[in-house]
Amino acid sequence: MSSTTYRIAALAGDGIGPEVMREAIKVLQAVGTRHHLTFQITEAPVGWAGIDAAGQALPDATLDLCRRSDAILFGSVGLPDRDPTIPKEQRPERAALLRIRKEFGLFANLRPVHLPKALSHACPLKPDRQGDGIDILVVRELTGGLYFGQPKKTELITAPDPVDGNLHATHRAIDTMVYTTPEIERIAHVAFRAAQLRRRKVTSIDKANVLENGVLWREVVTRIALGYPDVALEHMFVDNGAMQLVLRPTQFDVLLCENLFGDILSDEAAALAGSLGMLPSASLGATKDQTTFGLYEPAGGTAPDIAGKNLANPIAQILSVSLMLRYSFGLQEAAGTIDRAVAAVIDQGLRTGDIFNPADPAARRVGTREMGDAIAAAI
Ligand code: IPM
Ligand code: MG
Repeated sequence: MSSTTYRIAALAGDGIGPEVMREAIKVLQAVGTRHHLTFQITEAPVGWAGIDAAGQALPDATLDLCRRSDAILFGSVGLPDRDPTIPKEQRPERAALLRIRKEFGLFANLRPVHLPKALSHACPLKPDRQGDGIDILVVRELTGGLYFGQPKKTELITAPDPVDGNLHATHRAIDTMVYTTPEIERIAHVAFRAAQLRRRKVTSIDKANVLENGVLWREVVTRIALGYPDVALEHMFVDNGAMQLVLRPTQFDVLLCENLFGDILSDEAAALAGSLGMLPSASLGATKDQTTFGLYEPAGGTAPDIAGKNLANPIAQILSVSLMLRYSFGLQEAAGTIDRAVAAVIDQGLRTGDIFNPADPAARRVGTREMGDAIAAAI
């Protein structure tokens, strides 16, 4: 029996966020009972829910709660069709999610992509391309690159028109890709350490044939690799990487990417694993006093088209809980309990719509709630 109380800020957000969060909390409570752990879960609004409740995508009280917590369990934010007139800096994606990532220095985003054999049908690739199963860890740098580089603005300028050559008043949008050596070093260390616990291979993604950032990225990663002689390093241009992922995904173990490349390739990789609804993620900061503050969220979005209909797959949110137990709380056993419960329920044939195969006689289509109940019961 442990006397530690783990304080968790639960920010469900928008769209399917609240309904998948409900199932994740259910599972967290079940695992607490099973392993005699005390979780103090405090819910707070974020995203459009924050704007509705307190006029801000990240209300001050929510940010304070995060500061007082040991980890953040995050749902998803952003509803593209809501209020297009709100200034872009105040929209939830930037004002809440990117702000929290930056505020807490969550530079390391881990996205484990795993296609269980039982879901082979949900993978868009032919079975012969799936090998013995797809198992990739995307390590994405999360607080640098094009997302945060300055200048970042849209300005009104006078410039020659590309068609008629005449001077015109025109808008110009500027995003800037910036990485420093230490920023690349620290994410490279995360990738190599993760590879040591897996199949000992890192594929580093860049665009070194065109971008200055790519050249520096490749140099720094090559140097950091010298400290990990047990891990094989390979470099790949991002366009080739995107192609290799669909041609032969089984060649990859750890994929190390800068921010935007990682955003794109992790969605592509997630599709290989059957559904974005299966992909959890951990966003970690620097380790202090043996503990790592982190934010844990599904890699998918708010899915407004299915929100509130009991259709969403809660597994990405539930596996995010497992990552939280593992990385922020060091509770390997409890995390394993969740992972096994998810695997067991998949083996029993329970399927939300995104992973349902009508041709499979053993498959039983269930809703968000039934999936959460079954996983909690398996715990
Ligand atoms: C992700 C999402 C976010 C990102 C959006 C919602 C800002 O796509 O976590 O991958 O681009 O990082
Ligand atoms: Mg994304």
